[in-house]
Amino acid sequence: MSAIARIIGDPRGVALIPDGRTPILRVLDLARWAPSGDNVQTWSFRVQGPLAAEIAGRDTRDHVLYDRDGEASHLALGALVESARIAATGLGMELLAAPDLRDPRRPVVGLQLRPAAGRADPLLPWIARRATQRRPLSTRAPAAEDRAAIELALAGSGYRLRWFTGLAQRWAWARLWWHNAGIRLRCPEAYPVHRDIVDWHDRMSPDRVPADALGASLPIRLVMRWALGSWRRVDRLNRWAAGTIAPRLELDLLPALRCGAHVALVAEGRESGLAARLAAGAAVQRLWLAAASRGLRFQPAYTPLVFAAYDRADERFTVRDDLQRDAHALRLRLERMLGADDAGRAVFLARLGYGPEPASRSTRLPIERLVEQTMQRETPAPVRAGG
Ligand SMILES: Cc1cc2nc3c(=O)[nH]c(=O)nc-3n(C[C@H](O)[C@H](O)[C@H](O)COP(=O)(O)O)c2cc1C
Repeated sequence: MSAIARIIGDPRGVALIPDGRTPILRVLDLARWAPSGDNVQTWSFRVQGPLAAEIAGRDTRDHVLYDRDGEASHLALGALVESARIAATGLGMELLAAPDLRDPRRPVVGLQLRPAAGRADPLLPWIARRATQRRPLSTRAPAAEDRAAIELALAGSGYRLRWFTGLAQRWAWARLWWHNAGIRLRCPEAYPVHRDIVDWHDRMSPDRVPADALGASLPIRLVMRWALGSWRRVDRLNRWAAGTIAPRLELDLLPALRCGAHVALVAEGRESGLAARLAAGAAVQRLWLAAASRGLRFQPAYTPLVFAAYDRADERFTVRDDLQRDAHALRLRLERMLGADDAGRAVFLARLGYGPEPASRSTRLPIERLVEQTMQRETPAPVRAGG
């Protein structure tokens, strides 16, 4: 009898971490590799038995400029649930997910595993290997069969992919990234995010983004580290030393040029609520995993969508009028690139291309930190799951 069958047949078969690994913990342990904006991992897990758990979501809208209305957190939650669904197939099971979205600031997703026939999802091996690659990539356009495989992974998701290849199109996106970075770097409201998310010490960071993974050269890194010590420094550097030019060149313009393609993930429908955001997050994850499975490295460019959304909603995101106007111009630029309709429906932008896996990346908080402690105490005495 397999470990899973033993557990299913045993109503006491609840294993606690770290002693034993129940199927649901194994699923969550793999799923926690889902991406989240700046690696914030806005979730915790409430284990309810060997085959059931709840994901308790939260968001960072109150202090992260880029998490407008919690959308980035909701996308990440959708990616997490999709990862759990894929992970379940590796145990010969299927995952039923029941989202409770009544409180958008605290979405809860109930998970229930049950045995199912069927093969493991081909995206499964890539869940933990998928990573953000921010360094320059090959400018070779993705091969037709790789594009087809990625589109197949999105079939039935409710989202379609638009591809932009060739120098002229990459140049147009590079100008958009440049424009976007000009807002990001000069925006006082974005400063606390930039200050807090970089891990200057570790090449593998469990809860932030390692400085090495940003793709900056040593001189730029040193200046960034010094400047991010206070907003006054950033502001002075920007005003008097054209401080945004070097990082914009190195971290935005050049990577946006040096890649094989830019992509925009666009909703086929017009739904915009929380359920739609979870579905969009699932599609993002499938896109990203499929790209990884074809040797295509991937870097999101999410913030242009955020500034465009602030502008579309006529929402003030900064005290600086010039940046508010820049966001309007950025939105118009995006609409020229995608068309006004698709620009409004786009849920994710990214660049991708062939190249090496990143040598430095964000890792994740250990599963023990993600499982809510109260639930651990309430869980019955451990029985070794044996698997
Ligand atoms: C909704 C969302 C938005 C993101 N936006 C950006 C972005 O604009 N630029 C970027 O370089 N990475 C972006 N990322 C990538 C995250 O920083 C990255 O996934 C996280 O740090 C974990 O690292 P990993 O992908 O290497 O596992 C985004 C990820 C998500 C889920």
